Amino acid sequence: MTQTLDELLAHRVPEFSLERPFYTDPEIYERDLETIYYREWLYAIPACQLTKTGAYTRIKVGVYNVLLVKGGDGTIRAFHNSCRHRGSVLCQASNGQVAKLVCPYHQWTYELDGRLLWARDMGADFDASRYNLRPVHMRELCGLIYICLADEAPDFDAFADLARPYLEIHDLNRAKVAHSSTIVEKGNWKLVWENNRECYHCSGMHPALCRTFPLDPEIVAGTAAPGHLSPAMTAHFERCVAAGAPAEFQLGGEGQYRLVRMPLQAGALSYTMDGKPAVSRPLGHVGLPDAGSLLKFHYPSTWNHFLPDHAVTFRVLPLGPEETEVTTTWLVDRDAVEGVDYELDRLTQVWTETNDEDRQVVEANQHGINSPAYLPGPYSPVHETGVEQFVDWYVRTMQRSHHVQLLAAE
Ligand code: FES
Ligand SMILES: [Fe+2]
Repeated sequence: MTQTLDELLAHRVPEFSLERPFYTDPEIYERDLETIYYREWLYAIPACQLTKTGAYTRIKVGVYNVLLVKGGDGTIRAFHNSCRHRGSVLCQASNGQVAKLVCPYHQWTYELDGRLLWARDMGADFDASRYNLRPVHMRELCGLIYICLADEAPDFDAFADLARPYLEIHDLNRAKVAHSSTIVEKGNWKLVWENNRECYHCSGMHPALCRTFPLDPEIVAGTAAPGHLSPAMTAHFERCVAAGAPAEFQLGGEGQYRLVRMPLQAGALSYTMDGKPAVSRPLGHVGLPDAGSLLKFHYPSTWNHFLPDHAVTFRVLPLGPEETEVTTTWLVDRDAVEGVDYELDRLTQVWTETNDEDRQVVEANQHGINSPAYLPGPYSPVHETGVEQFVDWYVRTMQRSHHVQLLAAE
């Protein structure tokens, strides 16, 4: 880096894409992890992914390795996936089910709630209670599990309080995972987000999505302030609210999260090729079949779509300066039967295709930025206000954390 990160942040030109090092530089990537991914609340999994006692899943966040496991009491807990003996990774598979957590190295054995139960030949004075698994902050919100790696987690309640009324009616606690897919996009995590926050590219790139997803920038960006809404949008919100489905645009956490229930294209009820529901049994009790999609994002780790018949969660985890993992999970009512109430291909087609198309555009974007000839370019004031909103949040978050560090050092 010829310029420091602070200089680059300070010189950022509003409404233009970022300078090249933000998308390529390994040092800035590390700072992104330390400042954002290791400090903020991150969406991990839908709670229904862990149904049985002892079911676990593992999540890598940068250098951290987190284990989420369902206890005998039905509670999901999060731990660092590292043995308290000499630190070996405890659960090596990405998913599984166990009776106890047994370290493969020397077989130290932990209860599903993290207590060390057994350690061979450690001497008479060994106090097992000092070596329980280290917990990771975890919160469940309406069937969605969030984790935080910071020593002291930032506030979660403001987000939870804002989101709960929107989410509750989707009954995610009675959902099941119909399908999950993980793809790797060879692009910086911020490019994945920038691409997600606009639909300027949609008409050219997403033929399947465009059958039902509206291209109206007011809907996609979702950054319009109340009072600037079109009459059609206002009418949609009013219909949803009258049916018991909170809909109005909410932006909180200084731009970190957003909720809004947006209409799909006229006549469309779900993200399918024909616009008809993908699942005949509803997920939740959204009182309006054409309520559209509750769009929720929470930087830096998730965007989501909650529809009357199913829900789709997306999780964004950086793997390297130019590599990002995107996990998509389709949720349906737990009593919906595949082949009877839904067909898996039909349920997953639109977002499977869309994800792959987005992967291609993100990779091409990264590729072009890697050229020294790249210069930041202007965002469309019509279509890319959501991108500006994301980048602005990123820059402010990075700057604020730097100021906090400076104060702490004084
Ligand atoms: S490192 Fe886990 S038992 Fe030794
Ligand atoms: Fe896209």
